[in-house]
Order: sequence, then structure tokens, then C-alpha cells
Amino acid sequence: MTPAATQTPAPPAAAPDLYAVMGHPVAHSRSPAIHRRFAELTGQHIAYDACLLPLDGFAQGVRDFIARGGRGCNVTVPFKHEAAQIATQRSARVALAGAANTLMFMAGGGIYADNTDGLGLVADITRNAGVALAGRDVLLVGAGGAAAGVLGPLLQAGVRRLTVANRTLTKAQALVQAHADLAKLLKVELLAQTPQALESDFDVIINATASSLAGAAVPVPARVLRPGSLAYDMMYGPAAHGFLHWAQQHGARPRDGLGMLVEQAAESFALWRGVRPPAAQVLAELQAQLQAEARAASRTASPAEAQAQAPAQAPGAGAKA
Ligand code: ATR
Repeated sequence: MTPAATQTPAPPAAAPDLYAVMGHPVAHSRSPAIHRRFAELTGQHIAYDACLLPLDGFAQGVRDFIARGGRGCNVTVPFKHEAAQIATQRSARVALAGAANTLMFMAGGGIYADNTDGLGLVADITRNAGVALAGRDVLLVGAGGAAAGVLGPLLQAGVRRLTVANRTLTKAQALVQAHADLAKLLKVELLAQTPQALESDFDVIINATASSLAGAAVPVPARVLRPGSLAYDMMYGPAAHGFLHWAQQHGARPRDGLGMLVEQAAESFALWRGVRPPAAQVLAELQAQLQAEARAASRTASPAEAQAQAPAQAPGAGAKA
């Protein structure tokens, strides 16, 4: 008998649990790399892919993914509202925001929806940037889905006053109205304004608009900044560059949304797997990687293009997924 014949064959490896990020577009997403690294560092046996779904095909895409054995997914633009709607159970955060970025598929066929964007933002500001939110005067610029997703957790972080400023005032007012009870309960002063009407400066300014993506001007007057304010753009990469450069020119401390991206992913991962991944380590690795990509891009770009690249920004990066 040959030695090989005496060996017991190894049992077939169990298939990994399936996860994905669903969006349109989604090719730019860093979420697969982040979740795969989390899995590696925590010893979790998962597969995580990016799924491009047709604009009118979100619900069907989710059903197909469940049929293939999917256990959960992240959801990005433009499907976050639809993700909240198709859920059979919603966290309090989703009920308030009307938007979800995390779905978990349950054994009986139910779909649980959560929104970890706000937790990610608060964790990045307080833990990674080391800026306290408790007792602070905070400006949230924008009143779309991105702003809605973070308003509740910002209130819960114990801010003293939260002003929502938006080009279209009625949308800021609607968001404030939807969160009025929570603000009252937490004794936070919650206000809606147009950007032009803002007169004072703030401790923390958060850009949740899509203005940079559209190449438009910074959506608030410079008087909202003071030296040392934290100016946070929920985007990262070139999309955040205009706002962060403007903030720096006015003496504020700029920070992009890369840490928020990693921290919201860590919250989703913890919900799905019951294990908390080392988010700070993965953020540091990703920052180093983006810097290397930006350096490589500026080596191959023309001088004019190179000048337009931010030092710590990756080519093509920009969105919040
Ligand atoms: P998201 O899901 O990314 O938040 P959204 O729901 O379309 O996208 O919201 C986009 C936000 O960016 C809104 O607050 C929008 O302002 P309006 O409500 O007035 O449309 C804001 N926004 C987009 N382009 C802007 C620009 N050029 N200047 C100022 N605000 C802008």
C-alpha cells in the first residue's frame, strides 16, 4: 500500500459565508477589501464581493443573493432608502433615518436592517481623531440621505447644539422635524438653517452634501470655521479635496471620511459575525495604501494633473462605500 493510500482524505472545506456590498456604481468600493481584511484578522470564514445592481433591480438583487446563500449585505448609493423599505425588521436608527446601509438575512426569511453610518462617523471623530462631541456646537451641512443617516447618532453623542444647514431649507426642516423628539429627550438644541443664514462659528463642521462630487463650490461660508475647528467631509479621496483644502486654508483641522468608512464597516461586521474587528489597524493600513496609490498616480500624471491630486488621496476614490 502506498503511503498516500493510508492517509485519511481531508474533509472538504466548508463554503465561506457570503456577504456583499450592493450599489450602483459599486466598482470603486473599498468595502470588499476592508471586510476581507477584517475576516483575515478575526479568523472569520467569509467571502465578500461587490454587486452592481441595475437601478430598478435592488429588491430582486437582494432576493437573488439570499437564494445564493447570502448572509448579509452592505448597501450604498442609491439604494439605502429602498434597503430600509424591504426590511421586515428595522433598528431604531433605520426607523429615524429612513435609510439602511446594512442588511442581515435571517433563517426564517426575514431581513433585519440597520444603519451603521452614524456610529462610524461618531467613532471616527471621537476615537480616531480624538475630538470630543459631548457638549460641542456642531454643524451638519446637507439634508439628503447621507445627513439623515448620521443625525440620530450625532444627537446621541451628547452634542450641545446641532444645526442642519441645507441649500433647500425645507429638507433641513423636515430632517429636524423627524428628529425633534429624540433631540428633546436628549436635551440637544436642534436647528435648521440655510447656509447663508449661518452667522457664528462651530466646533465641528460635517459636510454631508454631494457638492464636491458635482464640482460645485463649498456649500457654507468660511465664517462657520474658526482655527482649530474640525472640518469633516464624509467623502474621501478626490471628492473630499475641495472642502478639506478650503477648511485648511481657514485654519480648521481637515479630516476625510475614510475612518468613517472603516468604522461603519466594523459595526456591520460586528453585527453579522458577533466579533469586533480591529478597525484602527485596518484604517492605518488603508491610509498607507491610498497614499501609495496617490504617489503612484502622481508619478504617471502630467504636472498639471499631479498638482490637482491631494497628497493622501487615491485615484478614482471618493464615495462613501
Ligand atoms: P446623499 O444620499 O449622498 O445624501 P442626496 O440625498 O441626493 O444624496 O442629497 C444630496 C445633498 O447634497 C443634499 O443636501 C443637497 O442639497 P439640496 O437638498 O438642496 O439638493 C446637497 N447638495 C448637492 N449638490 C449641492 C451643491 N452644489 N451645493 C450645495 N448642496 C448640494
